[in-house]
Amino acid sequence: MANTPKWLNDAVFYNIYPQSFLDSNGDGIGDLQGITDKLDYIKDTGFTAIWLNPVYVSPFRDAGYDITDFYKVAPRYGTNEDFRHLCDEAHKRGIRVVMDLVAGHTSLECEWFKKSALPEKNEYSDRYVWTDSVWKMGTEGSFISGYSDRDGCYMNNFFYCQPALNYGYKNITEPWQMSMNSPAAIDTRNELLNIMSFWSDLGSDGFRVDMASSLVKGDPDKSGVIELWNIIKKEFTAKYPENILIAEWSFPKEAIAAGFDIDFLIHFNLKAYTTLFRHEKGTNQSEAWIGHSYFRKDGKGDIDLFLNEYLDHYNATKGKGFISIPTGNHDIHRISLLRDTDDLFVTHAFLLTMPGVPFVYYGDEIGMKYIEGLASKEGGFNRTGSRTPMQWESGKNLGFSASDTPYLPVDTSSDAPTVAAQSKDGNSLLNHTKKLIRIRKENPALWANGEFEVVHKNYPFVYKRTGGSQTIIVAVNPANRRAEISAPACRKVIYAKDAQADGTTLKMDGVSFIIYEA
Ligand code: NOJ
Repeated sequence: MANTPKWLNDAVFYNIYPQSFLDSNGDGIGDLQGITDKLDYIKDTGFTAIWLNPVYVSPFRDAGYDITDFYKVAPRYGTNEDFRHLCDEAHKRGIRVVMDLVAGHTSLECEWFKKSALPEKNEYSDRYVWTDSVWKMGTEGSFISGYSDRDGCYMNNFFYCQPALNYGYKNITEPWQMSMNSPAAIDTRNELLNIMSFWSDLGSDGFRVDMASSLVKGDPDKSGVIELWNIIKKEFTAKYPENILIAEWSFPKEAIAAGFDIDFLIHFNLKAYTTLFRHEKGTNQSEAWIGHSYFRKDGKGDIDLFLNEYLDHYNATKGKGFISIPTGNHDIHRISLLRDTDDLFVTHAFLLTMPGVPFVYYGDEIGMKYIEGLASKEGGFNRTGSRTPMQWESGKNLGFSASDTPYLPVDTSSDAPTVAAQSKDGNSLLNHTKKLIRIRKENPALWANGEFEVVHKNYPFVYKRTGGSQTIIVAVNPANRRAEISAPACRKVIYAKDAQADGTTLKMDGVSFIIYEA
């Protein structure tokens, strides 16, 4: 790997949505102390790192992705000292902590924006993207007019309450647009670097960068934003060589060229991720991509829809950075939607044996459900059903909180999975996930940087991983029908469910997998 820290090679991340993880003080909202209290569980499951969704001061109109103070933990989660304590305790257990960095926008209530919205010129006037007349919207991107007495429209990056910070334009077509090298754009960049240093000094091991590709405007080929991130990465790595940057970009060729260590393959830009897991109507946000997921019992998917894009990006980024395929996240429907536990055994076997760094969204290790029909909470809309409280044990709020008014209702179904019940059950999804993580860590061929080669396509999907002196074959058959194919000869089965490797013959029942040494 170019400059990617070695610790990423056998890392497995746990993605924690802090408001829904564990409420340690009974106010109904998860908090940093709650996460600290569960570090032993996180370590015991095998995770080596945490990605924490935003914990900064915010009015929470977009669940904390609308920040008012980038230098302070939101009181509902605790204090900066609690964050330092969480990092210290995590580090003692060999767990790294990666924060969320909302680089592209702030809340409307951020002091910078309040000053920027004043009609009088001041040091924050150009901190955001504004047009020069309230009657003039920009032609690219989304703009809000008439917000304040400043004569101009501000650009919003996402919701209306998330004004876009000014990192400059690559191609300038209007008089009010500033260049990437303008003093105002450089001030914004320096502020971001300051924020990164501030939290790194408190113990953060890196950042997942929200909407990483959006910072430079008027940049259709992304050359501007790639240049910007290379500058930021160079400064950041010079100071914190072991710390990493993860992109929310979902176009690895660009993100890795921009200097990121990891890019997520998720539900936008490319179809690859959605075609694996969430291709059916109602299982993703984009009705345009309706088809059959590869990972479904009906066996009507096509792994090439994934591979055609994945291999292109994999080959272009190999040796430079990693593509991560997460089980899910706070923006997408849970992977358990329309799947049973057998299906999840197979999805998890795939996700934990692919190249790149695996990310497990909290609760996916026990198969927590996407809860349908919830009222939107803090800008969640149809994402809310993937953000419900972690299910620890039977009893009040399934162990999440002692409050009568938890942040969101917990899963009320009689078969709601819990950590306590699954810990005791040797055949549970939790114990399966634990075993897969252990196998991954013990076998260098399965590490992030192990080679990847397709052996057989379309039920089963078979791939070869090589690393060190090892060759491992993984075969997954999500379809509900038997398959028999020839594959590289098996020397030793590492882990299998309803599948056998008999010499060079692979015999797989429906909904099965096998991992073996060749
Ligand atoms: C991506 C985040 O994951 C999402 O939750 C948020 O709403 C937008 N970026 C805006 O920050």
